[in-house]
Amino acid sequence: VPDVVIIGAGIIGSAIALELEQRGTNAILLEKAVPGAESSSAAAGMLAPQSEATSADPAFELGLFSLRRYPEWVATIREYSGLEVGYHVDGGVHVATTEAALENLAARTAWQKSHGLRVERLDAAELRNRVPGIRDDALGGLFFPDEGQVDPRLLMRALSLATQRAGVEHITGATVRRILSRGEKAYGVELEDRVIECDRIVLAAGAWSCLIEGSGVPKGCVKPARGQIVALDCGAPPFLPYVFAEHGYLVPRRDGRLLVGATVELEGYEKAVTAGGVLQLLSAACETVPRLRSAKIVEMWSGLRPWTLDQMPILGSGAVEGIFIATGHHRNGILQAPATALVMADLLRGTVPPIDLRPFSVARFSSIRS
Ligand code: GLY
Repeated sequence: VPDVVIIGAGIIGSAIALELEQRGTNAILLEKAVPGAESSSAAAGMLAPQSEATSADPAFELGLFSLRRYPEWVATIREYSGLEVGYHVDGGVHVATTEAALENLAARTAWQKSHGLRVERLDAAELRNRVPGIRDDALGGLFFPDEGQVDPRLLMRALSLATQRAGVEHITGATVRRILSRGEKAYGVELEDRVIECDRIVLAAGAWSCLIEGSGVPKGCVKPARGQIVALDCGAPPFLPYVFAEHGYLVPRRDGRLLVGATVELEGYEKAVTAGGVLQLLSAACETVPRLRSAKIVEMWSGLRPWTLDQMPILGSGAVEGIFIATGHHRNGILQAPATALVMADLLRGTVPPIDLRPFSVARFSSIRS
């Protein structure tokens, strides 16, 4: 009998498994497909708590904590796997093309600075220096120097290998039907062909979390939010920071690819690249940096983020003893993985996490019927 069974070998489940093994707790990872098959590998990989936040809510604090943990976390993964994950801290730029957008950016600067965070206002010339080729009418922007990126495909391969080397058992092609409990205590998981007994179970099934019976996560709390991405080949990186424009973002890779993302569509479980999605992404990209019109399209894909009703993750214990939940990271799973792993491992091992998890409790959705 393993110490802990984790449902889902995406970035969240895998990160928790690695953290547990490092602390001497044995974990089994169950995955319906292969590790990182879903949104973890589809993500663009921005580590962007300041860029993604509109207020200093608990998810923002979680993201900042996680960003600070990233260098150490990446080093651990490198140590176990021997692989690089494309981790770079080149910052993020936000572009304004209207006075109203400039004012919004100024307001963002103010509240983030009041939290002691670094943000630089850019005038039009400074913006052009950071983002050569930016549209002529760009008025200015912001620069977040502490933000960075990873390459999620590289990261997932390396993390998955790291978990195996650390001693995590992987069971792939394992569809979990339900979490089993007796009275108010969990005792295992039911797969299609067998039961695995265990009294500590972590639900980390991303957009599929609500399809697993018995977890106590009410139906409709976590939904798939499709994101489409188009990858261009620019030959060499046109700039190094990622760029947020009004209708999309551009994430340069060191090898000259430029990821253009992303749609957010609550359209069920259909992964698809659509005409409308690609039109939206390419229009945004070519409006923001007009010379991208001549870049080659090399790949397009989509993934399903685990969206939640309030767009904050669900972290903590479930209603039934022995069930732990780590899902619903929506746009921020890559960023929030190191912090999630740390707090969940603390909970599972009975120590108090350094972050107050009450705002992330599944109990906040208790008025919704399962
Ligand atoms: N974090 C960016 C996205 O989910 O599209």
